[in-house]
Amino acid sequence: VSTIAASHAGLRDPELAQRLRGALGTRPRRLPVECFYDDLGSALFEAITYLPEYGLTRAEWRLLCRHSSDIARLVPSALEVVELGSGSGRKTRLLLEALARRRPLPYRPVDISAAALEACRREMAGRTGVTVDPLPMPFLEGLSAAIEMRAPSSAVLVLFLGSNVGNLEPPERDRFLSAIRRRLRRGDALLITADLEKDASTLEAAYDDDAGVTAAFNRNALARLNRELGADFDLAAFRHRALYAARERRIEMHLVSERDQTVRIPALGLVIALAAGETIWTESSYKFRRGDLAALGRAAGFSGTAAWQDDEWPFELALLVAE
Ligand SMILES: C[S@@+](CC[C@H](N)C(=O)[O-])C[C@H]1O[C@@H](n2cnc3c(N)ncnc32)[C@H](O)[C@@H]1O
Repeated sequence: VSTIAASHAGLRDPELAQRLRGALGTRPRRLPVECFYDDLGSALFEAITYLPEYGLTRAEWRLLCRHSSDIARLVPSALEVVELGSGSGRKTRLLLEALARRRPLPYRPVDISAAALEACRREMAGRTGVTVDPLPMPFLEGLSAAIEMRAPSSAVLVLFLGSNVGNLEPPERDRFLSAIRRRLRRGDALLITADLEKDASTLEAAYDDDAGVTAAFNRNALARLNRELGADFDLAAFRHRALYAARERRIEMHLVSERDQTVRIPALGLVIALAAGETIWTESSYKFRRGDLAALGRAAGFSGTAAWQDDEWPFELALLVAE
C-alpha cells in the first residue's frame, strides 16, 4: 500500500486535464508524457529498464558505477540532492552512497508517481547517511519546494537522469533548463544524462521490444484515460509503433488506430474521430550527440564541468555547474 499520497489528482488535475484536452482534441493528436505514470505505468517502466533491448538504464548504471566518486570530488561536501523524476531511484543509490560517505546527505526525490516514490523510499531505506524526503509533485514545483527547505550553507545538486531531458520538445527543454537554473544559486549543480544517437534499428528495438512490455506501457496511457476519465478507448483497436525520425533525431512512440473509430472522453467533454491509420503520438525521445549537454547547459546559465560517455551503449553523463 502506497504511503505517499500524490498531490496530483491524476488525470483529473485541472492543469493536466486542460493540456490533455488540447493535445487530444487537435491534430496531430498527442498525449502529455505524464499520462504514462500511474502505479501500473510506473511498474511497466521499471520492467522496461530490465529489457535486453533497452540499453539506456544499463549504460547509465555503468557510468554511475565508474564515476560516482569523481562526481563526489567535484561537488561541495555540504550538499543536498534533489532528483527530478526519480522513478525507483535504483541507479541513484550508487551516487548517493558515494556522496554520503563524506557527510550526511538529504535526498529529495520529486515525482508525480506515488508508486515510484514509494519504491524509491524503499530503495534508499537503511542507506547510511541518506535521509529521504519524497516530494510528490511535478518537476519544477518539487524543485521549488526542495529549494525552500535547503539549509543556507548547503549547495544543491539536481539530478535529471534516465535521459528524461529527451522527452521534452526542444523549445520546452530550453525553457525547462533555464527554469531549473533560475531556482539555483551560483555553485549549485545539475547532473544530467542523455541517450546518444545510434543506428535506427537498435533504437527502434529499444522502444518496441520482443516481449511487448513497451507496447503495454504505451497502451496503458489509453487504459488510464478509460479508468480515470471514463473514456471508451477500445485498446485492441490500437497498435504500438516506435519509429526513429533521423532528421529530428528522435524516437516517436505512437498508438495507431486500426480502424475508423469514435472515442468519447466524458470527463474532458471530448469526442474524437480517428481515421484508420491515424495515430496518437504518445512520446518523443530525443537523441543527442557528444557535448550537446554542455552546450544546452551553457545556454541555460551553467558551465560544463565534466562529461563522461559509455561506449558500449553510447550515452552521456554531464555535470553542469550554475554560474
Ligand atoms: C522515464 S522515467 C525515469 C525514471 C528514472 N529517472 C530512471 O532513470 O529510471 C520518468 C519519471 O519521471 C516522472 N515524471 C514524468 N513527468 C513528470 C513531471 N512532469 N513531474 C514529475 N515527475 C514526472 C515519472 O513518474 C517517472 O517516474
